[in-house]
Amino acid sequence: MRALVRKRLCDYSDQGTPARGGTVEITGAEPDIAAALAASLIRRGAHAEVVQSLSGRAPLSILTEGLSDLPPADRHFSVLQAALSVSDVQARIVVLDRNANPDPMRLGGCEGLVRTLRLERPGTTIQAMTLAVSCGVDEAAQRIAGALGCAEDVMLANDGIHAASLGAALTPPTSRSADASGGIWLVTGGGRGVTSDCTVEVARRTGGHFVLFGRSQQVPWPEWLGVSDDLKSVRAELARNSGRPDVPKRPADIGQLAQRLVASREIVGTLARIRAAGAEATYVSADLSDLNRLRAVLNEVVSHGTRVTGLIHGAGVLADGHVEKQTAGTFRKVFAPKVDGLIALLGALDLSELRYAGLFSSASAVFGNPGQANYAAANGWLNALAGQLAEVYPQIRVRSFCWGPWEGGMVDETLARMFEARGIPLIARPEGARIFADQLLDATHGNVHLVVGEEWNAG
Ligand SMILES: NC(=O)c1ccc[n+]([C@@H]2O[C@H](COP(=O)([O-])OP(=O)(O)OC[C@H]3O[C@@H](n4cnc5c(N)ncnc54)[C@H](OP(=O)(O)O)[C@@H]3O)[C@@H](O)[C@H]2O)c1
Repeated sequence: MRALVRKRLCDYSDQGTPARGGTVEITGAEPDIAAALAASLIRRGAHAEVVQSLSGRAPLSILTEGLSDLPPADRHFSVLQAALSVSDVQARIVVLDRNANPDPMRLGGCEGLVRTLRLERPGTTIQAMTLAVSCGVDEAAQRIAGALGCAEDVMLANDGIHAASLGAALTPPTSRSADASGGIWLVTGGGRGVTSDCTVEVARRTGGHFVLFGRSQQVPWPEWLGVSDDLKSVRAELARNSGRPDVPKRPADIGQLAQRLVASREIVGTLARIRAAGAEATYVSADLSDLNRLRAVLNEVVSHGTRVTGLIHGAGVLADGHVEKQTAGTFRKVFAPKVDGLIALLGALDLSELRYAGLFSSASAVFGNPGQANYAAANGWLNALAGQLAEVYPQIRVRSFCWGPWEGGMVDETLARMFEARGIPLIARPEGARIFADQLLDATHGNVHLVVGEEWNAG
């Protein structure tokens, strides 16, 4: 178990000219920075030009897609597309990104995407260069030009150029914070999956009222059907009874009904566990990508005059696939609950009242993970958001948990076997829940980004 510490300053001095002997191509997706960067490189003696599409032959291609104004999912997909257009694996690609900006729409998570690309296309010379300061165009261009001699993934911060590094062990909690009791907690994805375990553990320690969000609806369990949590056996039992009026005929519809029933049962179980832990619990069926519904629900929640003091953001979905197979659609699918949903939620909340924000990110955002370029990027955005939230609202205890794989939730049997084959241990659910509550509620621990689980083959 590690805490992610981004504090290693690179031993690097701004010397030399990048890409001698060829033209540096800079994509024009963010035209102002691209133009300022080209001018800066030319002043340093390099040949540089802003291009609308990369030739794929340049010794150095600098991508500004990560700085464009596109919505987060489309922006990250456009980074991937631009990177894939450079077919020469010998050529160097620098992906520009930003993780400091008051507007969450402009934050990026390209580091995990870049590392995923390196894992999926071994030998690719690609690096992430992240602007970790909010600054004007000319200053940004100067900083980028000055860092091009660095060969690793770097962050351009106020005090210099930082390399991401994995440092100290998780600090054991020393005390529970004084203001943890009571209040309303909003929990996205809290009805089901691993977020539900974490929520129950927080509820046990704090009490209060937990409002859980998820798309699934609570549906009554048919009286004639044996109660079970096992999807396969419920599906089989429904199929055996497909002559009944309340059971559909088509296998696909039977499968959906089985899923709805099992999901609903899981939600009922979570509500019961939270109540047994001494807190109140409400479930709201709401899709995080439905902004109007979200606003209506939030208005209702806060209309009783109670403050929303805690936020747990666990909603997430997968749309895995090799980088070559990823589409704007798979990026949008993964970004919808994790990124767009959180932006909507934050926009509807009074953040000055908030005291806790526990975000479910992933180790994929830190190490990269084959097949998960979109997921690594969305979770990277979440990490950037966590940093911004902690900086702008110091009264919020923000923790972004970059989880390794858990035993359960979206890690099904196939994924579990895959992680086992790679020697990556799974996080046991009670252990993960304990770590979550320890780290979120501890008054003294200061790290915002926490990597929980074993390090794996970083790209
Ligand atoms: N399990 C792991 O190993 C692991 C590792 C790293 C990170 N994580 C992160 O941990 C979180 C929980 O994962 P999990 O493994 O528990 O996955 P899971 O079992 O698939 O649960 C995902 C949760 O998100 C909710 N959700 C999905 N899309 C939603 C939407 N549009 N609106 C509202 N709710 C939505 C789901 O509820 P409905 O289906 O009812 O909407 C469900 O409660 C995710 O953010 C995931 O990225 C998990």
